[in-house]
Amino acid sequence: MSHSLTADAQGLHGGTPPEPCVVVIFGASGDLAGRELIPALFELERYGLLPEQFAVVGFSNADWDDDGFRDEMREKVKRHCAFDEALWRSFGPRLYYLQGDFRSPPDQDYARLSRKLVDVRTENRIGHNALFHLATPPSFFGVITARLAGAELARSDDGWRRIVIEKPFGVDERSSRELNAEIARVFDEDQVYRIDHFLGKETVQNMLVFRFANPSFEPIWNRNYIDHVQVTVAEDIGIGTRARFYEATGVVRDMLQNHLLQLVSMTAIEPPGRFEGTSLRNETAKVLEAICAVDVDADCVSGQYGAGRIGGSRVPAYRSEDGVADGSITPTYAAVRLTIDNWRWAGVPFYLRTGKRLASRLTEVAIQFKPTPHLMFPVDHSSLASNTLVFRLQPREGIVQRFLAKQPGPGLEMRSVDMSFGYATTFGMTELPPAYAWLLLDAMQGDQTLFARADWIDRAWQIVDPIVSRWEEDAGGDPSFYPAGSEGPEAAAALLARDGRTWRTIAQAEE
Ligand code: BG6
Repeated sequence: MSHSLTADAQGLHGGTPPEPCVVVIFGASGDLAGRELIPALFELERYGLLPEQFAVVGFSNADWDDDGFRDEMREKVKRHCAFDEALWRSFGPRLYYLQGDFRSPPDQDYARLSRKLVDVRTENRIGHNALFHLATPPSFFGVITARLAGAELARSDDGWRRIVIEKPFGVDERSSRELNAEIARVFDEDQVYRIDHFLGKETVQNMLVFRFANPSFEPIWNRNYIDHVQVTVAEDIGIGTRARFYEATGVVRDMLQNHLLQLVSMTAIEPPGRFEGTSLRNETAKVLEAICAVDVDADCVSGQYGAGRIGGSRVPAYRSEDGVADGSITPTYAAVRLTIDNWRWAGVPFYLRTGKRLASRLTEVAIQFKPTPHLMFPVDHSSLASNTLVFRLQPREGIVQRFLAKQPGPGLEMRSVDMSFGYATTFGMTELPPAYAWLLLDAMQGDQTLFARADWIDRAWQIVDPIVSRWEEDAGGDPSFYPAGSEGPEAAAALLARDGRTWRTIAQAEE
């Protein structure tokens, strides 16, 4: 992405900066803040979408001061964004920091935070608007919320107060409900932004535009024409330095309960009346409501990566990663067959799979259409591929429609060909804006459309809880192992073979 272009010049349409506000990041010294949040805010500054009166206050246990925080974040921005010195000169000085303990009583570190906010607001001429972003381990979400109330930071008569909460939101349905109740004691639902960064991805939002702004596909978007749907979120990375988090979380809580079920919601949703929070969230909740209980033994496959090769280099097995127990049974791969019990989707399986250390980084939703009811051409029908519509969410973002065409020549040979739309060629954007940028902007603007509602999250846990408990039981035994760099465990292939279907290939040709 170019360094100093305006939003318009980059193929982005305009947009309006939010009202002046302070963003307070709890967990500011953590991985997420440095990798996603601060870079996303820096991108908003580049697009001219931050208000002039704006500041960030980082709060965490690292022993930094304002300048130390600025130096650290400058390095992160350099690593994760196209750096621009002039832009940093306007952005960097608006970062502030306070060392503190999330569990501290309200009259101690949170009282210091309150005083810091007064100073920062005065220095930057910002009113009372504040967005609290909880980028901490999930175990702190409840306590921080309560302390914010104790320190009288959760409400103001002179401005808005909002809270952004990261995932995983709870560890199961019970804890999610408890957390929702804890939060509801302090914040009204319209102050709460439960974030799932997949909803901020351009390509995910484009799934809605594709279906509901174009009349051609809606008539065939149902069980009469669609054979099945495949949702793939494959990563080639391992768990990196996140062993502690990952050992406690596993693939179902990390990816399936949130990102993959959001993709299912976006694919299966009924047309909302309007593109706004209540309408859209009512419809996505109905999708989850209609998902049938999964039979864990029959319809789910867990896997864990063994050693293997990625991009020509040897990589270790999950069990040999730093911080992972030798005999860990934490799954790094899950494949699940879901069915949706409603008129549109009855009998159409949704096959979901996600995993780390797979053959490629590939996120896509593939709609596989039924075969032609009667094919008049004198060819071997069994060799003909069905029509497929693929939303390429990342990389090489775009949409591809695969259909049959006559191959030039005297006889009647047919071949699958692609009609495609790509962001790179159409909008001249090889890199799309980070999902967090749009979601932080929405939160600052008070737009909850792309944030999960409490009932959606509780229901998502209800769907996956039986899977997690079965796999966490000792009796569940080892997950199926797959070599790093492969397509996943063989048992996952068997899951589809049983239905006479095959997974799409994850390995991608070199770009
Ligand atoms: C995060 C998970 O929510 O999503 C990570 O915690 C995962 O484990 C990441 O790597 C994937 O996000 P993206 O945007 O890179 O596909």
